[in-house]
Amino acid sequence: MRIQHNISLKPYNTFGIDVTAKHFVSVSNISELKEVLSLPEFPAKLILGGGSNMLLTKDQDKLVIHINLKGIDIISEDDNFVIVKANAGENWHEFVLWCMKNNFGGLENLSLIPGNVGTSPIQNIGAYGVELKDTFVSCETISVSNLSTQTFLKSECDFGYRDSIFKQKKDQHIITNVTFKFTKHNHKLNINYGTISSELELVGIKNPSIQDISKAVISIRESKLPNPKVIGNSGSFFKNPVITSKEFEKLLVNFPDAPSFSVSTNEVKVPAGWLIEKAGFKGKHFGNYGVHKYQALVLVNYGGAKGSDILNLSKLIQKTVLRLFNISIEAEVNIL
Ligand code: EPU
Repeated sequence: MRIQHNISLKPYNTFGIDVTAKHFVSVSNISELKEVLSLPEFPAKLILGGGSNMLLTKDQDKLVIHINLKGIDIISEDDNFVIVKANAGENWHEFVLWCMKNNFGGLENLSLIPGNVGTSPIQNIGAYGVELKDTFVSCETISVSNLSTQTFLKSECDFGYRDSIFKQKKDQHIITNVTFKFTKHNHKLNINYGTISSELELVGIKNPSIQDISKAVISIRESKLPNPKVIGNSGSFFKNPVITSKEFEKLLVNFPDAPSFSVSTNEVKVPAGWLIEKAGFKGKHFGNYGVHKYQALVLVNYGGAKGSDILNLSKLIQKTVLRLFNISIEAEVNIL
């Protein structure tokens, strides 16, 4: 373990923003993590996982701690289920592929999501009708302030749409590992999300396996979402806003084609991608950054953009959407 100084964070964030970390350290075990957390010369810390849900707008003076804890273990299993613990620094998609290889069901719809295992509960990552919480059992954390270890069971995580206790109590707990429960057979398949069933139909699969679903999701994501290794991005930049059914009725008066998904008896979710597209931003280039051409929820860095430029674009989008539709859209990514 070595503390480095004045290094570029470009390789550590999927937006590919080039800012400098005054101090940087990568930790590969718990004792190293505890050691750096207790260094008196660095009272302020920034915890870095896969760097897939952040927009860096300035150089960072804090000690940047890169969580590089690796390892996947089968904790227990019976005829039907398996309990697996994965350390926080495991790449999310590689973990999903490991599950597919072992025929462990539950994460197939969450294929190809950027980021690491340890940050997946913070956002309660979700896609194509499945959320992390559906297979989550518990996670272990270390407190940033007093180094105590804690286990959070699912019921204690306050999971919601792109939300959890770890997001609410930002920077208080570092997740060191996550435990999941997967099916070994009789997998519970989720193929009702429109694009998955049509993708499976397209390739002529009637009784899909979890591996087929994973492949379908990979193919959908590759066709709609930019690969961060090619074009810098952080996935959905905004959350889909939840509004009351009454507000939605008002929206329908002027925009009868507005899509929505029911959330509760009197609330609906409106796709922010639709609002942004309708506002005219889809596919727009602003020099070396802009809005993705196939998915308006995704802001992109074509190379060399500043985080502050992208932040300003996001504010312009929020203002325009509010003016046109009277709906506030909230950023999903962390602005640092
Ligand atoms: N839409 C548009 N224009 C666009 C994008 C979307 O009109 O440019 C409308 C369409 O009506 C479409 C609907 O939005 O039918 C839903 O689009 P999509 O299925 O792409 O889903 P989303 O609501 O835009 C959410 C997640 C994605 C996730 C997909 C699939 C959020 C903030 N985003 O997007 O997550 O992959 O569903 O489940 O909830 C991510 O978090 O990084 C991410 C990509």
